[in-house]
Amino acid sequence: MWVEGRVVDRIDWNDKLFSLFIEADIGNFIPGQFIKVGLDIGDKRIGRAYSLVNAPDSPALEVLLVSVEDGLLSPALARLNPGDAIQVSSKASGYMTLDEISQGKHLWMLATGTAVGPFIAMLRTPQPWQRFERLVLCYGVRLARDLAYLEELQALQSANPQQFSLIPCVTREKIPDMMQIRLPEALRTGQLEQAAGLKISPEQSQFMLCGNPGMVSDAQQILLDRGLQKNLKRKPGHITMERYW
Ligand SMILES: Cc1cc2nc3c(=O)[nH]c(=O)nc-3n(C[C@H](O)[C@H](O)[C@H](O)COP(=O)(O)OP(=O)(O)OC[C@H]3O[C@@H](n4cnc5c(N)ncnc54)[C@H](O)[C@@H]3O)c2cc1C
Ligand SMILES: NC(=O)c1ccc[n+]([C@@H]2O[C@H](COP(=O)([O-])OP(=O)(O)OC[C@H]3O[C@@H](n4cnc5c(N)ncnc54)[C@H](OP(=O)(O)O)[C@@H]3O)[C@@H](O)[C@H]2O)c1
Repeated sequence: MWVEGRVVDRIDWNDKLFSLFIEADIGNFIPGQFIKVGLDIGDKRIGRAYSLVNAPDSPALEVLLVSVEDGLLSPALARLNPGDAIQVSSKASGYMTLDEISQGKHLWMLATGTAVGPFIAMLRTPQPWQRFERLVLCYGVRLARDLAYLEELQALQSANPQQFSLIPCVTREKIPDMMQIRLPEALRTGQLEQAAGLKISPEQSQFMLCGNPGMVSDAQQILLDRGLQKNLKRKPGHITMERYW
């Protein structure tokens, strides 16, 4: 079911990457969940999933998007401005949430591109800070200009230096003090553990993997080889995933 919403603001992080703020009545949701956003294009409604970035108590819904070249919906969403109408699913869904995790002292969040969004939603609430001794956000992008929300994340790190580690990995340019490596490779070589100052183990680690399906599959395999297991409803484990395509 769809409800009509309205765009109330936008942030442009670069010429392809943007956040939309939307007023729409969708009820409550759990950080990590996504909504469907739709537009009528021609005589068809085109809807796609977008993770919520805002905390549940904020007045507007917030989504972070990249305009995919030749994409059906995202370039049209990139042209929206405050005041424009937009369709939104009446309820959020998805299982990449902290409620689905039953154990662990260290939460590792691995995101490529726009998939940093659901982790920001979690970090904007008290729950992960109260539950985990350590929070590690590994944020893989092509170029430094793709690091949306960087200032907010750096501020979180400055405010919580013992608990929160932000590890940006920029693959297509060399940036001082940032790794130039894909996330699975950084995981395989131990560079993420080194940067976080933490060892990965089935006893202590929980992993959430989100975004590019290649990253999710490769990172998952490395973690399985290290003795971690998929987190399933019927058998709790250590790896919770969401593929964006
Ligand atoms: C659970 C879930 C949550 C999602 N959350 C987000 C989100 O928060 N932000 C977001 O931008 N997208 C998100 N997506 C992807 C989004 O639903 C669309 O697939 C995307 O916007 C492309 O739609 P389109 O109609 O423009 O392109 P289509 O014509 O449908 O083309 C799809 C192709 O675009 C590429 N692609 C799709 N999404 C991305 C992406 N995010 N980054 C890089 N390449 C991509 C892939 O090659 C894919 O095959 C999510 C997808 C899922 C399943
Ligand atoms: N970001 C831009 O500046 C830009 C510009 C024009 C268009 N776009 C559009 O945006 C879409 C998405 O771009 P994006 O940069 O947000 O997402 P992306 O292509 O998923 O790249 C994000 C990060 O994931 C890495 N990655 C890609 N495949 C991987 C794999 N199999 N395993 C591990 N890591 C992997 C990339 O490394 P690599 O760099 O090594 O691939 C990069 O560091 C594109 O399809 C395009 O249509 C983006």
